Amino acid sequence: IIRRKVDWLLSPLRLSHSDLQRVQALMRQEMELGLGKETNARSSVCMLPTYVRATPDGTERGEFLALDLGGTNFRVLVVRVAEDSIRIASEIYIIPTSIVQGTGVADLMEQILPLGFTFSFPCQQLGLDKAVLLNWTKGFNASGCVGKDVVQLLRDAAQRKENFALNVVAVVNDTVGTMMSCGYEDPKCEIGLIVGTGTNACYMEEMRNVGTVEGNDGRMCINMEWGAFGDNGCLDHIFTTFDRLVDEKSINPGKQRFEKLISGMYLGEIVRYILLAMVEKQVLFHGKPCTKLQTKDIFKTRFLSTIEIDGLGLRKVLAILRDLDLHATFEDSVLVREVCQTVSLRAAQLCAAGMAAVVEKMRENRGLDQLVVTVGVDGTLYKMHPHFSQNLQQTLQVLAPKCTVTFLQSEDGSGKGAALVAAVACREARP
Ligand code: BG6
Ligand code: GLC
Repeated sequence: IIRRKVDWLLSPLRLSHSDLQRVQALMRQEMELGLGKETNARSSVCMLPTYVRATPDGTERGEFLALDLGGTNFRVLVVRVAEDSIRIASEIYIIPTSIVQGTGVADLMEQILPLGFTFSFPCQQLGLDKAVLLNWTKGFNASGCVGKDVVQLLRDAAQRKENFALNVVAVVNDTVGTMMSCGYEDPKCEIGLIVGTGTNACYMEEMRNVGTVEGNDGRMCINMEWGAFGDNGCLDHIFTTFDRLVDEKSINPGKQRFEKLISGMYLGEIVRYILLAMVEKQVLFHGKPCTKLQTKDIFKTRFLSTIEIDGLGLRKVLAILRDLDLHATFEDSVLVREVCQTVSLRAAQLCAAGMAAVVEKMRENRGLDQLVVTVGVDGTLYKMHPHFSQNLQQTLQVLAPKCTVTFLQSEDGSGKGAALVAAVACREARP
């Protein structure tokens, strides 16, 4: 009886191969729509041009400053690009983004180095150093920024608060910074992926397919903003009751619907709603009401990463649950682990469906029977979860058998990549 109730609750989260193929096909359709000229044909995937046209050619030199805003941490780095190496000369600052408000950054910088700015939110770029914020995501909500050029906002703030001039030469999304930084090591790296607080991807698209920028030669990196996939209703068939609750209670209901199925900011919440439903159905914790579990965001995504570790004693699981005032039996903790596995597996599979659409498009673009490509990846969930990356890779192989895809974890975050983009810009500006 219990088993039947559990399966009844979890089955909407278990996606079949054909469900995933459908998601892949929908992503592909939205990509085409987003790349097109017709602005009235609304795609949920923005496909934003980045003005990054190539990976570095090795002749870039100099010292650059990199600011990295939008993930769990805010970073300030000095990056030295030399003959055959690129090094983080110093990492001045890593602080949680939650306490970044009101902190003067400019006072930390003594010289006016050319600066690459990683800004991990959707922006309409008008050039390499001009990016208009379309909307905030991931729980950020500072007023007076949407519709403004974030580079100008940064310059103004530095000037006003610290009487300091910043030489911002490039602004990049974190996906782009990650692709560029991994691209320095592996020239086949032409895709960037983030699975952290939020999720998103970028890749090198043929200019002839980019209807939103003049010119047909070469390639340009496209920031997909795939977190918003489904915001036009095209994924409604896969959302469960739990997904709808997570969305409704978030600060941006109706927005970033794909991201809310996949990324670190939301997986714990999905699990929490499932656990509450299980308590209600009397299959967990003897059906005893749990007040603490009613609290938003109390079940952290990092709990999934711990609970799912192979061979982790159920005692450890019990300890995590006890901290949440949940007096669980061994049976309860087995069930909680199953819930976590179901939610994180679905996230990895959906991410794979999105990635399958990307690599298949690149393969077709280039008229190849087989595409060999590398994806540069970053993000806490990808790096910390014990099975996410494996589930992602396995599913991707099944969905895109004609593509050989290698995943390369970014070592130094996206700042190095932002500095590289700045370096290329400076090289090109040289007389
Ligand atoms: C960092 C990158 O390593 O990862 C950031 O430097 C990026 O640019 C971040 O935003 C994403 O991961 P998370 O988990 O911090 O959101
Ligand atoms: C959100 C942002 C996107 C970013 C991603 C990963 O989806 O909108 O720009 O790349 O999070 O940090």
